[in-house]
Amino acid sequence: MPEGRTHVKEDEQRHETRIADALKARPVDERAATVAETVFRLDDVHVYYGSFLALRGVTLDVGKNEITAFIGPSGCGKSTLIRCLNRMNDLIPGARVEGKIEYHDQDLYGDGVDPVEVRRRIGMVFQKPNPFPKSIYENIAFGPRVIGMKPSSMDDLVEQSLRGAAVWDEVKDKLKHNALALSGGQQQRLCIARAIAVLGPRPGLHGPHRGPDGGAEAGLHHRHRHPQHAAGGPRLRPHGVLHR
Ligand SMILES: Nc1ncnc2c1ncn2[C@@H]1O[C@H](COP(=O)(O)OP(=O)(O)OP(=O)(O)O)[C@@H](O)[C@H]1O
Ligand SMILES: [Mg+2]
Repeated sequence: MPEGRTHVKEDEQRHETRIADALKARPVDERAATVAETVFRLDDVHVYYGSFLALRGVTLDVGKNEITAFIGPSGCGKSTLIRCLNRMNDLIPGARVEGKIEYHDQDLYGDGVDPVEVRRRIGMVFQKPNPFPKSIYENIAFGPRVIGMKPSSMDDLVEQSLRGAAVWDEVKDKLKHNALALSGGQQQRLCIARAIAVLGPRPGLHGPHRGPDGGAEAGLHHRHRHPQHAAGGPRLRPHGVLHR
């Protein structure tokens, strides 16, 4: 084998060793040292649709400033799990959630917790974009109006939200056009802008994320109420694989 090829092989081996080291699970106490605060804590969560057990015994923590990805085959329960995090499963007839889910140490399913308020604080970008059949402008302005926000300028809020979702340049000249006339990827970013308009400029992304065109689905949780979230960028932490 030529000498150059030997170097390539050694490089490949070193690279593979580095990947193998990186993939080793980090010890819990090491993780605890790097995660400043737990946002979600799930303990033995089961979800049923009628008698069908869709999710079995999920226990995990989601840390602040981390991006957590749920990866697994179609139908393994990724969407079901994410819907548990903002009580969207409550809206599905026959769906039942068992186990404990805490958000900032508060029981999300506890007595007296208003699911509408939960969904307002913990937004979600769906796998399939679902803009309202209204103008691009109205898609953004609708949420702030409904929850009684009084921005000094709605035009500015609309622009900043669309900029935050990196779609402003593509839509700034057609704000009065129907949002359904946008491409799939643009609709997806419009939906992210819609979440930014009510959640604030620095939402955190959680959950399966396949890019705008492939259909992203993610939980967006409210961060502007927690100024400490602004420090540093999010870290990526693949949480592991969900199996059927
Ligand atoms: N509303 C529902 N009623 C009954 N069963 C459901 C319902 N929603 C999902 N399921 C079932 O629960 C299981 C998990 O579905 P879920 O949508 O969470 O999968 P997923 O991992 O998000 O899949 P995909 O990658 O295809 O989006 C599947 O077997 C699905 O058929
Ligand atoms: Mg899904």
